[in-house]
Amino acid sequence: MSEGSPPQPTALVTGAAAGIGAAFARALARDGYRLVLVDRDGERLRGLANALPVPCETVTADLAVEAEVARIEARCREGVDLLVNNAGFGHPTELLETPVAAEVAMARLHIEAVLRLTLAALPPMIARGSGRVVNTASVLGFFPSSTYSATKAWVVNFSQSTARTTLPHGVAVTALCPGFTRTEFHATAGMNMAGVPGFLWLEADAVAAAALRDSRKGKALSVPGWQNKVIVAIGRLLPAGLIGRMLTGSGSRNPVRQPQR
Ligand SMILES: NC(=O)c1ccc[n+]([C@@H]2O[C@H](COP(=O)([O-])OP(=O)(O)OC[C@H]3O[C@@H](n4cnc5c(N)ncnc54)[C@H](OP(=O)(O)O)[C@@H]3O)[C@@H](O)[C@H]2O)c1
Repeated sequence: MSEGSPPQPTALVTGAAAGIGAAFARALARDGYRLVLVDRDGERLRGLANALPVPCETVTADLAVEAEVARIEARCREGVDLLVNNAGFGHPTELLETPVAAEVAMARLHIEAVLRLTLAALPPMIARGSGRVVNTASVLGFFPSSTYSATKAWVVNFSQSTARTTLPHGVAVTALCPGFTRTEFHATAGMNMAGVPGFLWLEADAVAAAALRDSRKGKALSVPGWQNKVIVAIGRLLPAGLIGRMLTGSGSRNPVRQPQR
């Protein structure tokens, strides 16, 4: 940093080792952010950090584990300019076959960690009068289809309501709602995606770029791609009961694993 130039801003990204999180890291490095990259996979994080042209701190943490989320919470309290709560996963099984421990881990990661890191990052941002939080939800947050969709509905609602409180203080909070995005997400969850038409898929880099654009504009909701805007509009227009019946009729009890976006 040269004398007199503004200090380099810091961004903390969770789930940064792969997919949309890694795309956030690449985009933020291009924007000149100093990065704090968090994921369970430390080796992969370090590989990504070494390939980026900015200072990177890598933190190996499982955000579904109390002591580990507390560590990242403490890092957020020290102050970051941008927080991206992005880590997430899908279940390979339907509700009645999913162990309760896996459901609790999902709720901890998608809800508790997002809540705690956001609330830890906000006070220094509010005190400075600037800062941004991006929380990765899903278009499924607009469809009652699974416990996954329920956690993502929470992310949308939480982000929109928090944004109303923080925007007057110069701090934007944005719920990112991707649809089908080419990442490791579906393979990790053992989902069969063969039937999903090509036009519905977006690249992770395009999703992260749209989220950062919308967050800079102070938008509380970011839905990347026209396809996903149409899907969200349908989710908002149709009654929840009708959507539920349509999703049940679409084969949610089929032994072939159904896609969870
Ligand atoms: N891809 C899609 O179609 C899509 C659509 C809508 C929303 N989303 C959301 O987008 C976000 C990113 O997903 P992605 O598609 O980029 O999936 P991905 O390629 O599987 O990347 C997710 C990253 O999060 C990490 N992670 C998972 N559980 C974690 C935990 N407990 N603590 C810390 N890190 C953890 C994963 O690490 P491990 O490899 O160790 O598990 C992985 O590096 C998720 O919130 C997901 O729900 C994805």
